[in-house]
Amino acid sequence: MAEPAPARPAAAAAATVLEPDAAQAVAALAERSRDVLSTVMTHASVRRFAPEPIPEDVVSAIEAALVRGPTSSALHSYTHVIVRNPERKQRIARLAGDQPWIDHAPLLVVGCADLRRAREVTHAQGYRYTAHDLRMLVSATADLTVGLQNASLVAQSLGFGTVMLGGVLNGSLEIAELLGLPPRVVPLVGLSVGRPQGGRWPAPRPRLPLPLLVHHEGWALDADAERRLLEAHDATTRERGDFEGRRIPWSAMGLGGDDPVPVGDYGWLEHTGRKQGRATWIAQGAKVDVDLPAQGLRVRSTGDADESGV
Ligand SMILES: Cc1cc2nc3c(=O)[nH]c(=O)nc-3n(C[C@H](O)[C@H](O)[C@H](O)COP(=O)(O)O)c2cc1C
Repeated sequence: MAEPAPARPAAAAAATVLEPDAAQAVAALAERSRDVLSTVMTHASVRRFAPEPIPEDVVSAIEAALVRGPTSSALHSYTHVIVRNPERKQRIARLAGDQPWIDHAPLLVVGCADLRRAREVTHAQGYRYTAHDLRMLVSATADLTVGLQNASLVAQSLGFGTVMLGGVLNGSLEIAELLGLPPRVVPLVGLSVGRPQGGRWPAPRPRLPLPLLVHHEGWALDADAERRLLEAHDATTRERGDFEGRRIPWSAMGLGGDDPVPVGDYGWLEHTGRKQGRATWIAQGAKVDVDLPAQGLRVRSTGDADESGV
């Protein structure tokens, strides 16, 4: 049995990022939040929200959670934009792939890779900026995801539901314009937060079997075992009807004819195949390939292109 973890007061830590009153309010919330392990174990994305606004102390807790996590090289290569204005949220809901829950949830965080701030500082210090390669984009994405996940856990520990929003990337350019973001501050992932409608929490959804997802000391899986485990997961999701309501229409595949998969047979395997194989994916990708460079985000393998790289 692990020893009980020693208590570490939240107030002083919260005060490193919040005004004193807000930090006190967050420390008071910490006293009545669910513990981390139960919160992580019972996670389920919520897509039906009650419209009631988020109390200010919870907004403070979300703000602090967005920034209290680790950040690669202490660079803070992210900026989060909290959106509560209904019209603005509605427009983002459309731009992020017509996702109505973004509109319905009272609070949205737009997580942005910020490849501007450190570059400005580098120039202000009198140096050429050399960090143009893929590493900056990867660490900025990791940074902002750490913040969003921490905010999601804090919200869930206080009885609020959340859903992450990768769809933000598809509308990144338009969302950046709407929010007045400067070049090189690039919306990548969002998070919607609100009380679950009617107090109804979805049951935790199944995961692929653990041996597929976590190995010890190195790769430990042969192809037969992998296929067996994938098929077992597929059967579970077909029985539960997890993906039937999210069926990707046959027309999206661009293959002609009628959908060959009968109702009840559409599980994780078919959904994954369609998700990664649909014709519409190509057009969305082409848009993002153009939009991100237009926002100043261009990856170069050389550190020499000061005006043109990440
Ligand atoms: C990076 C990321 C992006 C996601 N993007 C979306 C999204 O755009 N829309 C959505 O409804 N859910 C999105 N999700 C939520 C996933 O669909 C969800 O986590 C997955 O289906 C498993 O369900 P669960 O979270 O309820 O366990 C995203 C999750 C992650 C981690």
